[in-house]
Amino acid sequence: MDVSEALRRRRSVRAFLPEAPPAALVQALLEQAGQAASGGNLQPWRVLALAGEPLRELLTAVAAAAPEHNPGHSHYPPNLWEPYRTRRFANGEDLYRSLGLSREDKAGRMQQFARNGQFFGAPVGVMVCIDERMGAAQWIDLGIYL
Ligand SMILES: Cc1cc2nc3c(=O)[nH]c(=O)nc-3n(C[C@H](O)[C@H](O)[C@H](O)COP(=O)(O)O)c2cc1C
Repeated sequence: MDVSEALRRRRSVRAFLPEAPPAALVQALLEQAGQAASGGNLQPWRVLALAGEPLRELLTAVAAAAPEHNPGHSHYPPNLWEPYRTRRFANGEDLYRSLGLSREDKAGRMQQFARNGQFFGAPVGVMVCIDERMGAAQWIDLGIYL
């Protein structure tokens, strides 16, 4: 596979095989991502990869935490405008239709949303952190790293 094909075929995956890849492979991938350009070469990311028991412990704690424990930076600006509003709406419709969840099925939608906090069952969880003092330019760097 070449880069063009990899870009064409990339997609968000929300279901995973249970088997964790070798830790050395995960480490190699993260090191390769670290080749990303960053302004002033700050490399403003900190990365944690968990698997096995440490991951299970984290996910248990996340599942047990009340939703209000989540400081929840709002992911989108309020009153999202066009064309983004329509895109977001269509994305939600597509996602829930593909899962067989109806608009009325609030509990089902909540359950699906909670799977975010369980890494959708992935056997390796990677958390990428940035110092909250960093600004928009460093968040761009972080996006490039991701
Ligand atoms: C920063 C970011 C956050 C996202 N958050 C979620 C999320 O919370 N739950 C989810 O199911 N997908 C999430 N996605 C995936 C997007 O919904 C997905 O990229 C979009 O639907 C396009 O589909 P594709 O990635 O398969 O091309 C996120 C993607 C990005 C880049």
